[in-house]
Amino acid sequence: MAAERLDKLVAQGGLLTRKDARERIRAGQVTVDGQVCRRPDTHVDPAVQCVALGGKTLGSLQPVLLMMNKPAGVLTAARDGRDPTFQDLLPEKYARLGLSAAGRLDKDAEGLLLLTDDGELVHRIISPRWKAEKLYYAELDRPAEPDDVPAFASGLDLGDFTALPARLTILPGGKACTVAVMEGKFHQVKRMFAARGKKVLRLVRLKIGTLELDKSLKSGEFRELSESERRDLYEMTELYR
Ligand code: URA
Repeated sequence: MAAERLDKLVAQGGLLTRKDARERIRAGQVTVDGQVCRRPDTHVDPAVQCVALGGKTLGSLQPVLLMMNKPAGVLTAARDGRDPTFQDLLPEKYARLGLSAAGRLDKDAEGLLLLTDDGELVHRIISPRWKAEKLYYAELDRPAEPDDVPAFASGLDLGDFTALPARLTILPGGKACTVAVMEGKFHQVKRMFAARGKKVLRLVRLKIGTLELDKSLKSGEFRELSESERRDLYEMTELYR
């Protein structure tokens, strides 16, 4: 990780707001390599420098990374006047960090939502350049047909753009499928099926690149990523944090 502002690191590592972090720094409660540092804009490299808050070393200066099993009916947004959002499902200590979703899900879609304060990671997961494949499970109003498989694979014409090649697997019975896509345009999976004359009745995201939805998470639950899940994501996106 490159050098970061001290207030950002203290906020992340101490699960504080930026404002609270700045106050604690100005109050002399933060040390860098054992020396009190009262300037929130000091640049510090957490890979080589030791930051402590109230005498306690901040071990977790890593970005926050959560996976949530998003329920249908919840918006992929921080706040909304009317509908519940993923932010409303988080306890205060995470909600105040202003986390972003690495790839949104429609209100009626469910499943894996990756939430983080690492903007560069979000960018790389969304960008097709780093090839983070997103895997969805879809239930349809009528069975998928064998011809749909090569149609998805050759890149469907969606009118305003041509989708990148996608991998469609038809599950027994035909009314349920999995589809792996490399991009995440608005209503992308629903539009791809619509282009083949099918309506998606239920959509669940199962995977984002190397990260798989933890099946033990009930709808609406979340957890922090494990060390190996974090490492795999950072390796996939070539960030190596
Ligand atoms: N594709 C969609 O149509 N909706 C989603 O929420 C995600 C992918």
